[in-house]
Amino acid sequence: MSMKIAVLPGDGIGPEVTRQGIKVLRAVAERYGLAIELNEALIGGCAYEAHGHPLPADTLTLARDADAILFGAEGGFQYEALPRDLRPGDALLTLRRELDLFANFRPVVAWPELADATTFKPEIVDGVDLVILRELTSDLYFGEPRGIEILPDGSRRGINTMSYTEAEIRRIAHAGFRAARARHGKLCSVDKANVLETMELWREIVTDVGSEYPDVELSHLYIDAAAMALVRKPKAFDVIVTANLFGDILSDEASMLVGSIGMLPSASLNASGKGLFEPVHGCAPDIAGQNIANPLAAILSVAMMLRMSFGHEDAASAVEGAVRKTLAEGYRTSDIARSGEATIGTEEMGDRVLGAFVAELDLALVEHEGTGAGSGSICRSSVGSR
Ligand code: IPM
Ligand code: MG
Repeated sequence: MSMKIAVLPGDGIGPEVTRQGIKVLRAVAERYGLAIELNEALIGGCAYEAHGHPLPADTLTLARDADAILFGAEGGFQYEALPRDLRPGDALLTLRRELDLFANFRPVVAWPELADATTFKPEIVDGVDLVILRELTSDLYFGEPRGIEILPDGSRRGINTMSYTEAEIRRIAHAGFRAARARHGKLCSVDKANVLETMELWREIVTDVGSEYPDVELSHLYIDAAAMALVRKPKAFDVIVTANLFGDILSDEASMLVGSIGMLPSASLNASGKGLFEPVHGCAPDIAGQNIANPLAAILSVAMMLRMSFGHEDAASAVEGAVRKTLAEGYRTSDIARSGEATIGTEEMGDRVLGAFVAELDLALVEHEGTGAGSGSICRSSVGSR
């Protein structure tokens, strides 16, 4: 049975970085004997222009029917004045909500090769390896009431509602504890329980769920303190579980530990493990179409898909290894280059990773054959469990 993957490149730099991700994915599929079916559809501003809506019914159906979704980015300056429900950003939010993709994993891993691309002292970021688990389908993003109302004196008031049900907190807490258990056993829950009732409930439920995971060390931080700790002592974190808005902010902040938001992949999963995989960076309209965007977040999102949707750890690690090798060889897009350093474009970065991936596998194959273990078997490892 082939894996059905919905490909939604979107707007801005979305299409060019997604193209690099697909290039690598096709090579992986061929080398590891994975059957994949790729179906592309419009989302965001390009869908609005073609069909009058940023999330056409066909795109939603394709995403619903897929086993996994590879998403690029959406948006653009020209759409900012549209009514909210026609703005590209709304399409992504609707997709997350419609598919109930509540668990958003944003790994933040410092690449030693990029230590000098960050604004931090090497000893602060060297060895950073954390995951921000952001709740993605509730909170201020979706709470009701919302809107801008006219007051009796004719002035306006904007309203959004922070809201979490117990069940919503419970399921993201479980995901957090499970993630911590599979890593280094530490979970830090980030809230604002000292001020907000919603967050008071958050802390209570996370603590309660924690009693089922005695092997996981649970700590709590307020969002302001967490924002500070993340840059003061980032290596103290393993898994951070937090609410939708706080996770949005913390993940952009954390990208600086790595050097560029162009390096951060993400996975958004629903309760049955179906996922949408996307770079954390947005559509970056200012650099779109110039072949200068960093495609590594998109390529690393493909690795996350291979790991979390296909259960194919070998292939995922091979892609990550190819990214590492490409960086080690000194190839840089402009966002991760030091001033004066030579840079390459989006397309070439994709080609370099692809070349590194193929070279590594061929090498492994030669070594494997050298042991007399039979040709090709290195490329046929079985699909493991999730
Ligand atoms: C993100 C983005 C989105 C968000 C925008 C584009 C709606 O910033 O995925 O982090 O706020 O969730
Ligand atoms: Mg964001």
